[in-house]
Amino acid sequence: MIVLPPDESGIRIAADHLLAGGILGMPTETVYGLAAVVWRTDAIASVFAAKERPLFDPLIAHVVDVEQAWTVWDRDVLEAPAREAVERLTAALWPGPLTLVLPRREAVPDLATSGLPTAAVRSPDHPVARSLIAAVGEPLVAPSANRFGRVSPTTAEAVVAELGDRVPYVLDGGPCRVGLESTVLAIEPDGVPRLLRPGGVAAERVAELLGRPVRDGRGGAIEAPGQLASHYAPSVPLTLVDRAEGELGRVSALLASGSADRVRADGSVVVLSEGGDAAEAARRLFAALRELDGAGLPIVAERWPDRTGLGHAIADRLERAAARRP
Ligand code: TXA
Ligand code: MG
Repeated sequence: MIVLPPDESGIRIAADHLLAGGILGMPTETVYGLAAVVWRTDAIASVFAAKERPLFDPLIAHVVDVEQAWTVWDRDVLEAPAREAVERLTAALWPGPLTLVLPRREAVPDLATSGLPTAAVRSPDHPVARSLIAAVGEPLVAPSANRFGRVSPTTAEAVVAELGDRVPYVLDGGPCRVGLESTVLAIEPDGVPRLLRPGGVAAERVAELLGRPVRDGRGGAIEAPGQLASHYAPSVPLTLVDRAEGELGRVSALLASGSADRVRADGSVVVLSEGGDAAEAARRLFAALRELDGAGLPIVAERWPDRTGLGHAIADRLERAAARRP
């Protein structure tokens, strides 16, 4: 895999490659994505193949703004409350780590949406991603650039480690600012918001903007496929504990907050945020899992103590990392 610089020449090479039906690694503020032009079924098939991703797990389309999102979504079938919700949320939170799921246009390939009548779209808040989408002039579908079920990459080096010779290029946009994936929110036809995946935007913020509570993902008209329990799993076993203390033995340890001094372990001890800051912890989480995974020892990880705001997404990713593979 060739690492392209995030300058004009790198973006030109990347855009031409995508327009010719190729795929490549792209930085975003959340995690790195594996991008293809949304209209290119052949390229989308290559994305699924490179990731070994099952075809029932649909992709997110990345756009520069809400106007471009309407080339993917079908505005005509939306009732006023749903349209209003989209306008409010995108005005306040785009570009940013919020993905919205709405009815799609027929022109969107079935492969991109796993045959669903809806499409997930977000506008990434990363200058390199935005320049790339603008240079291509079309929305880009991009799942996280990891092999299926594994930890999402938050640096260009991690993309190389994940997908090496399967993908020709990665655009290097530096380490990701948010560090875990976007919040996925379905807007039901009547405007009811449903949380399909906690992520970089707090559900509380969505509720505040819409002036109504956000419902839990399950049970709505819009389905949330691909949310398997054992996502984001390191290759070594990971056990969650409320608090780790003292001699842990032949393990690596991932502490939520405080000082690393309170435990002793044969492997490394990593603290997500000494001061207990959720944004810092989110930014470090996947890189920490990757580092500890590399040591080959089982991981003991502390639960993130707070399930509000970004804490919800951190707790979710840790629980999935702890879930056993089927
Ligand atoms: O932050 C992110 O969202 C990153 C960066 C690269 O943008 N992308 C990402 O993509 O996390 P991926 O493919 O790993 O996760 C996409 C999620 C899946 O859980 C999928 O089930 C959900 O979005 N999704 C996509 N289309 C959907 C749809 N039409 N209905 C319900 N859920 C959908
Ligand atoms: Mg993923």
